[in-house]
Amino acid sequence: GLPDRVTIYEVGPRDGLQNEDAVVPVADKAEFVTRLAEAGLRTIETTSFVHPKWIPQLADAAELLDVLPRDPDLRYPVLVPNERGLDRALANGCTEIAVFGSATETFARRNLNRTVDESLEMFAPVVERALAEGLWVRAYVSMVCGDPWEGDVPIEQVVSVSRRLMDMGCSQLSLGDTIGVGTPGQVTALIEAHKAAGIGADRLAVHFHDTYGQALSNTLAALRAGVTTVDASAGGIGGCPYAESATGNLATEDLVWMLHGLGIDTGVDLGRLVATSHWMAGRLGRPSPSRVVQALTST
Ligand code: HMG
Ligand code: MG
Repeated sequence: GLPDRVTIYEVGPRDGLQNEDAVVPVADKAEFVTRLAEAGLRTIETTSFVHPKWIPQLADAAELLDVLPRDPDLRYPVLVPNERGLDRALANGCTEIAVFGSATETFARRNLNRTVDESLEMFAPVVERALAEGLWVRAYVSMVCGDPWEGDVPIEQVVSVSRRLMDMGCSQLSLGDTIGVGTPGQVTALIEAHKAAGIGADRLAVHFHDTYGQALSNTLAALRAGVTTVDASAGGIGGCPYAESATGNLATEDLVWMLHGLGIDTGVDLGRLVATSHWMAGRLGRPSPSRVVQALTST
């Protein structure tokens, strides 16, 4: 069966904008987040407290959080890789954070300058302190369906990293197909393996990049396996500068079109969302890769 309602975890301002060549002015970022909230999105990953040299696009994290509208209904998780990042997140009033691990050694090295073990050791005190401060903590695992340098990634290797992150006490685990190579059978097997390892579908989210056009099919497979939280990026912008061949995430509009067509509630106003992505595409100087945005804005 399929769920009645899906929670969309919007990553456009973070995963989207981190990979744009243009550094978007903070006022435009604030308008982007505000309009996404007005379109009905309730969880918006806004930025990252990573090293500004690694992701210059998000170096303005503190300024952005300072000007965003606050509402008890609105959740603004931010990426935090280490204790320095946590200090910055706490200083800026964040109540939701996400640590981000890798299923593969090559990506851990390229993205975090650490081995997989060293990166988990880096996260452990972050998660512990965040939980003690009453924060909500998400964990990502990247390269769950394949790695551009290592090729196939064994499911057991993914589950082992997932298990270690969840044992730290993280509330939610987002399975990242960073380079968009996965297909639905693989996604089903991955989710079933997590359930078998004691990580239920209620604690899982899926994070698909659409490089090979599989993101929506993969999402449907995840919904059928019981997942009800889906990551997406408004307009399909995004990628990861440290993962060769990663393109944008599943577009939020494409996801909403499918979910509403299936009679699944999202709380999102598609018209307002499309208008927002159309506007952002203008600011970025390139058309949105979302098929739904293209279909609904062509004249
Ligand atoms: P490092 O160079 O090993 O850092 O980088 P370090 O711990 O050796 O520290 C070096 C210096 O950086 C120190 O300064 C620190 O204070 C400073 P110094 O004492 O030399 O003056 N520093 C910081 N400054 C500000 N904020 C911080 C911070 N940390 C250290 N947080 C590090 C290690 C983790 C910091 C670096 O590798 C990094 O920032 N990586 C982030 C990369 C990233 O953001 N990638 C994109 C997000 S992941 C993604 O997109 C995938 C996802 O979407 C899921 C999917 O698709 O699969 C989530
Ligand atoms: Mg991503």
